Amino acid sequence: MAKKAFITGITGQDGSYLTEHLLDLGYEVYGLVRRNSVTENQQSRIQNLMNNVNLTYGDMLDQGSIDKLLKKVNPDEIYNLAAQSHVRVSYDIPQFTVQTNSIGVLNLLESAKIHCPDSKIYQASSSEMFGNSRDSDGMQRETTPMHPVSPYGCAKLFSYCIMRNYRKAFNLFASNGILFNHESPRRGSNFVTTKIIKNAVLISKGKVKNLELGNLDSKRDWGHSKDYVKAMHLILNHSKPDDFVISTGETNSIRDLCRIVFSKLNLNYEDYVKVNPKFVRPEELTYLCGDSSKSKKILGWKPEYSFENLIDEMLEHFLKHY
Ligand code: GDD
Repeated sequence: MAKKAFITGITGQDGSYLTEHLLDLGYEVYGLVRRNSVTENQQSRIQNLMNNVNLTYGDMLDQGSIDKLLKKVNPDEIYNLAAQSHVRVSYDIPQFTVQTNSIGVLNLLESAKIHCPDSKIYQASSSEMFGNSRDSDGMQRETTPMHPVSPYGCAKLFSYCIMRNYRKAFNLFASNGILFNHESPRRGSNFVTTKIIKNAVLISKGKVKNLELGNLDSKRDWGHSKDYVKAMHLILNHSKPDDFVISTGETNSIRDLCRIVFSKLNLNYEDYVKVNPKFVRPEELTYLCGDSSKSKKILGWKPEYSFENLIDEMLEHFLKHY
C-alpha cells in the first residue's frame, strides 16, 4: 500500500518540490491550503500536480481543520512547511507570525498526539534560530547556542523546542530540519535572491532602471530547495526522531551575489544597486554558514547543486520569462 504524506504549506516553494519528490517515490500526497481570493496565484507552483494531490482548505490556526484532516487521512508522514516565512515582514506582523509559526505547530502536535500518534512529524526549523551565534570555527551546527534576532526566529525557536519536548514527553516521532537559506526559480519575489536576479534581468533588458536593497554585507549559506526537500524525507525515514542541520557549508554576501549575477549579464552592479534603509532590518542576522556533517554522516544527504548552478538556474528562468 502507498505511504500517505500530509504537507502543510504545500503551495510554497518547498511544498511544491517536496510534493514532486514524494509522488516520484510513490506516496499519496495530501495538502492543507489556506483559502485565498486569487486561487490561481496561490496554486501556481503546484498547478501541474493538481490531479495527483488531495487538497483540503484549512489553516494552522484552525485546530478543527487540522483535527478533521489528520483523523481522516491518518498519514504516515506529516511535513509542516506552513509559516509566515519572511523575516523582515515578521517585524510588521509579529503577532500573526508568532501565532502561525508557533501556536500553529502546537496545534498540529496536539492533533497528531490525539488522532495519529504513530505519524512521523517534520518541522521546518530554520537557521534564523541561531541569530548571531556561531561556534569558534565560524559555523553553526546542531549544538550551536540559539539566540534569534527577529520575531520570525523567536517563533521558530519555540516550535523547535516544542517538537523536542513532545518527542520526549509523548514519545512522538517529531523531528526538526534546521534548514539554511534555500532558493530556486520558485522562490517568492521578495526574498533577496529572486529580487536581485529578477531585477538584474529586467535591468539588462532596459525595463527597470535600478535595484533598491537593504544590507549588502550580511552573508548567507544558500542551497537549492530541490536538494533540501530530499533531506526532509530522509529525516523522517531515519530510524529515530532527531534534529539535523541542512546547509551547503559555503557562505556569500548579498554584495557577492549582486556582483556575480550582474557580471553574468555583463553589467557592473555598482551602477544599479542602491541601498534603501526601508529594506534594512531593525536587527540583522549577519552571518550564516552551516555545518551539515551530521546529516551527511547519518542520513547520507549531500547537496547536488552548487551556488553557481543555483544562480544559473534562476537566471535562466528569468531570462526565459522576460
Ligand atoms: N528580502 C530582502 N530584501 N533581503 C534583503 C534585501 C532586500 O531588499 N536587501 C538585503 N537583504 C538581506 C537581508 O537583510 C538578509 O540578510 C539577506 O538579504 C537574506 O534575506 P532573505 O532572502 O529575505 O532571507 P532570510 O535569510 O531573511 O530568511 C530566509 O532564510 C531563512 C533560513 O535562514 C527565509 O527563507 C526564512 O523563511 C528562512 O527560515
